[in-house]
Amino acid sequence: MNHQEQIEAAKQYTVAKLGKDKTGHGMDHINRVVRMARRLSAGEQVDPFLPVVAAYLHDTIDEKLVTNISAAKQELHDYLLNNGFSAEDVATIMDVIANISFAHTLDQGEIHLSLVGKIVRDADWLDAIGALGITRAIYYGGAHHEKIYDPQIKPRHNMSRAEYRNLDDETIINHFDEKLLGLKDKLFTPTAKAIATHRQQVMLNFLDEFHKEWNAEA
Ligand code: ADP
Ligand code: NI
Repeated sequence: MNHQEQIEAAKQYTVAKLGKDKTGHGMDHINRVVRMARRLSAGEQVDPFLPVVAAYLHDTIDEKLVTNISAAKQELHDYLLNNGFSAEDVATIMDVIANISFAHTLDQGEIHLSLVGKIVRDADWLDAIGALGITRAIYYGGAHHEKIYDPQIKPRHNMSRAEYRNLDDETIINHFDEKLLGLKDKLFTPTAKAIATHRQQVMLNFLDEFHKEWNAEA
């Protein structure tokens, strides 16, 4: 199999697993992350092959989407070997997708990622900020019956993974303070950091306008 066919195989695996997802991790998110992984690879002068494959596969073993994570890992591992990926490439891909999620950063100390991992994590996290980040937060918050905003409820900080997933007192606006505004400074690659500068300003402008309108000041 050539690289193009292997990329196609990775895509088809994800379509089979996430094609019907309604949690905000559907193929639209995946396709954006793939496009961004290509852009970041070009900016960082890295061969896009593994970043693109890992970007396609990055949510297929996510704790929110699969019940048995080790079975999901094994299935993907076998699929890649059966589709002509070398053992070394399989190890790189599995390492990336096991270690890039935001939730993972809450219960782990320092995370060591390969350059491929850094590109895919940056691409995934860029999809959580800017206009897309605003849209996804509202979409997720609505799906989980979060309040839009409540000035009495203060943003939470230094959350554990369990606290992050506990939405009892969560509001959509607090999610910006709790997570989204901090992502920019945790990006790895210079190419992603440059893209994040603009997206950060889009979120700050949105929040400023939101609070003004909330207080009948705009
Ligand atoms: P990851 O898969 O990297 O761990 P999440 O599953 O936590 O990321 O988030 C998926 C999307 O849903 C992101 O855009 C994120 O900002 C948004 N999201 C996660 N938690 C909340 C929340 N409590 N309120 C609103 N949006 C959220
Ligand atoms: Ni993702």
